[in-house]
Amino acid sequence: MMEKVMQLNPIHSRHHVLWVFIIVHFSLLLFSAFSADISPRKILNGEKKKSCKVELHREDNRVFIDNGLVEVTIENPSGHLSGIKYKGMLNVLETRNNNNNKGYWDIVWDNEAYDKLATQHVKIITETDELVELSFTKMWDITKDHGSSVPLNVDKRYIVRQGVPVLYMYGILERQEDFPDAHMYQIRIAFKLNEDKFHFMAVSDTKQRIMPIQEDRDESRCQVLAFKEAVLLTNPTNPQLKGEVDDKYQYSSENKDNKVHGWISDDDAVGFWVITPSNEFRTGGPHKQDLTSHVGPTALSMFVSTHYTGTEMDVLYKKGETWKKVLGPVCMYLNSASWDEARHYRKALWNDANRQLREEIQSWPYNFTASEDFPHAQQRGEVNGQLLVRDQSLDKQLMQAKSAFVGLAAPAYAGSWQTEGKGYQFWTQTDNTGRFTIKNVRPGEYNFYAWVYGFIGNYKLNLKITIQPGNKINLGTLIYDPPRNGPTLWEIGIPDRTAAEFFIPEPNPTFVNSILNHDADKFRQYGLWDRYSDIYRDGDLVFTVGVSNYSKDWFFAHVPRRIGNETRATTWQIKYELQEVNKAGNYTLQLALAAASYAEVQVRINNPDANLPHFTTERIGYDNAVPRHGIHGLYRLYSINVPGNGFQRGNNTIFLTQTRCHDSFEAVMYDYIRFEGPAV
Ligand SMILES: *[C@@H]1O[C@H](CO)[C@@H](O)[C@H](O)[C@H]1NC(C)=O
Ligand SMILES: *[C@@H]1O[C@H](CO)[C@@H](O)[C@H](O)[C@H]1NC(C)=O
Ligand SMILES: *[C@@H]1O[C@H](CO)[C@@H](O)[C@H](O)[C@H]1NC(C)=O
Ligand SMILES: *[C@@H]1O[C@H](CO)[C@@H](O)[C@H](O)[C@H]1NC(C)=O
Ligand SMILES: *[C@@H]1O[C@H](CO)[C@@H](O)[C@H](O)[C@H]1NC(C)=O
Repeated sequence: MMEKVMQLNPIHSRHHVLWVFIIVHFSLLLFSAFSADISPRKILNGEKKKSCKVELHREDNRVFIDNGLVEVTIENPSGHLSGIKYKGMLNVLETRNNNNNKGYWDIVWDNEAYDKLATQHVKIITETDELVELSFTKMWDITKDHGSSVPLNVDKRYIVRQGVPVLYMYGILERQEDFPDAHMYQIRIAFKLNEDKFHFMAVSDTKQRIMPIQEDRDESRCQVLAFKEAVLLTNPTNPQLKGEVDDKYQYSSENKDNKVHGWISDDDAVGFWVITPSNEFRTGGPHKQDLTSHVGPTALSMFVSTHYTGTEMDVLYKKGETWKKVLGPVCMYLNSASWDEARHYRKALWNDANRQLREEIQSWPYNFTASEDFPHAQQRGEVNGQLLVRDQSLDKQLMQAKSAFVGLAAPAYAGSWQTEGKGYQFWTQTDNTGRFTIKNVRPGEYNFYAWVYGFIGNYKLNLKITIQPGNKINLGTLIYDPPRNGPTLWEIGIPDRTAAEFFIPEPNPTFVNSILNHDADKFRQYGLWDRYSDIYRDGDLVFTVGVSNYSKDWFFAHVPRRIGNETRATTWQIKYELQEVNKAGNYTLQLALAAASYAEVQVRINNPDANLPHFTTERIGYDNAVPRHGIHGLYRLYSINVPGNGFQRGNNTIFLTQTRCHDSFEAVMYDYIRFEGPAV
C-alpha cells in the first residue's frame, strides 16, 4: 500500500492531538447481552487528515484512491475491491481471501452459472481534489464470451469524495439486442470483512449481536438443521453462543427497511456499513425481502434476487430485447467512535451510521455521479395526487387511503410490481389524507400502482405515465374500488399482505436465536413451522367464527402435520353459523394469501369428503417464505364464488385443505379471509 504525506488542516490537527493513539481501557457496560466477554479496546484517533484532497495512484495491477480518511484499493483491470484502509486498520476486508473474494459484484445466471463481473479496462472519469470517479468496463463479446460469462456489458463505478469516509459504488449493466437469452437470478455486491476484527453485527435497532464466525459453521462445531443454511451451534469458538441457531435468512429485511446494516470491530471501535439511500434500482417493490449481513463476516448489497419470491420474479432477459440499468449508487461507510463515546461505542457507531444514511437520503439523487445513465435531480420528474377508497359496505363516504403504498413501476397488470425484476420502481407512502408525491422519478414509462392497508387487492391506474425531465404530473384524485361482492358476514385477519397478525408460536427452546426475542422479530425464529404439529397434536386447526380469536387460534402458516416420521396434508376448518341462507344468491369467499410454496389450497363447503373441491388454487408458489422465516412472500387474492344453495341454515363449515406435503415447507400463509353475503 502507498504511504502518503499527510497535509493536515490546522483546525483538525488540534483534535488530532487530543485523539492520537489514546489507548482506552475501561470496564464495559454495554447494551448487548453478549458484551460481557469483550476485552478492553483502543479507540483510534479521530478525524485526522479530514480536509485532504482526494488522490489517485496507479500501479500496474491496482489503483488506490485516498481521501485522507479512507484509502481504497481496486484491482486493475478486474475492478475487484481488494483493500479498504481506515484508521489503524490496514484492511477492513479479509486479507486471507484472494483479491477477487474481498469486495466484488457477482451474478448468478442460467443454470447455477456464476460470474464475478471481472472487467477488462479502467478509465478515470473524474479526478479533482474533491472527487475521483473510476470506471471499470467490459464489453461482452459473443465470439469469445459465449457460454463462459454472463451476456452483459459491465461498467462498475467507484467514487471517493473529499471529506467523507464513504466509497460510492454503482454499476451500469447493459444487454445488446443480439445477446443470447439469459436468466439473471441474482445480482449483488458482496463484502467479506476482516474475520479477526468484525464480530458484532447490526441490521436494525433490535437485531444486533455478537456473531458466530465462519468456522462455527463447520461440521465439527454445529449441527445442520432442516436445510443447510440453518445450523445449531454445538461447539462454537465463542462458548457464549452455544445452543444458538445461526441462519442468514433470520437477518432478512424488506426493501423499504433495508437501508443500513453492517459490522463493528470491537477492537478498534470501527464500523463498516452498507448504506442504500434509495430503492429505485431494487426489484419487486417495497415489500420484497432480501439478505443483509450474515456470518462471514459478510455484508451484502442485494439488487436482484429470487429470495421470498421464487422464480416468478421476472429475471429472463430475451434475445432481441435491449436492456440497460443503473444499480446503485450504494455507499460503503466507515466510522469510528471518539473518546467521548467510548463507553457506548456500538450504539454511537450505529447511530452515526443512521445519521449518515439520513445525509445520503437528503442528497439523493446524487449530483456528483458522472454517468449520463444516472439522471440528476433536474433530469427527473415528479408525480402527485390523492388516493381514496370506495367500499360502501364499510362506509358510504369515500375513505382516505392513509399510509398506503403508492408507486410507479413498469407498465403491466395491477400488482405486477411484486415480481417485476428489470426496471426501476419509485414508491412512497400517502399521508393521512391519502395525498402523495413521488419524487425523483427517472424519465421513462410507468404505471401507477397502490395497495392500501386494511383493503384487499391491488390498485392500478389505467394510464401510461410518461416522465420527462423536470415535469410534474398531478394525477388528481384517484379512487380505488377494492374487490367486494357483498356485505361482510365474517372475516379472519387484517388485509395487510402478511401473516404477522396471526398466531406466531414461541420457538422450540432448543432452536432459539436470542436476538429475535422482540415481538416484531419473533417470526424470524427457526423452526416455528414445526410447532404446528406440537400444538395440533390430536387434530387440525378449527376456527369458530365469533368464538375463536385469530391472534391466538389461527396458526400463521398452513403447513403439513408431522405424524411420527411422516408429514401429512392438513385440513383447516372454519365454522360459522348462518341465521338465514339466500339459496338463490351468490356468496363470496375472499381468500388472500401472503405466501405460497409448492402448495395447493382446496376449498370444500360443508362436505370434507367431496371428491371434487369447490375451488382449488392449483399448485402455486415458490417463495419459500416458511423456511426462510419471512412472514410473507408474494401476495395472491382469490375471489371465490359460492352459490347460496351450497349452504344451510345454522352451522356451516368451510374446509381448507393444503394438499401438498412432501416436506414441511410446502405451505401457504394466509393474509386475510372474508366471507361475503350476496349483493344487497
Ligand atoms: C450537490 O448536492 C449537495 C447536497 O445535496 C449540495 O449541497 C450542492 O450544492 C450540490 N452541488 C451542485 C453543484 O449542485
Ligand atoms: C385476541 O387475542 C389477543 C391476543 O391475546 C388479544 O389482545 C385481543 O384482545 C383478543 N381479541 C378479542 C376480540 O378478544
Ligand atoms: C422413524 O424413522 C426412524 C429411522 O428412519 C425409525 O428408527 C423409527 O422407528 C421411525 N419412527 C416411526 C414412528 O415410524
Ligand atoms: C351466481 O353465480 C353463477 C355462477 O357464476 C351465475 O351464473 C349466476 O348468475 C349468479 N347468480 C346471481 C344471482 O348473481
Ligand atoms: C352450532 O355450533 C355451535 C358451536 O360451534 C353449537 O353450540 C351449536 O349447537 C351448533 N348448532 C347446531 C344446530 O348444530
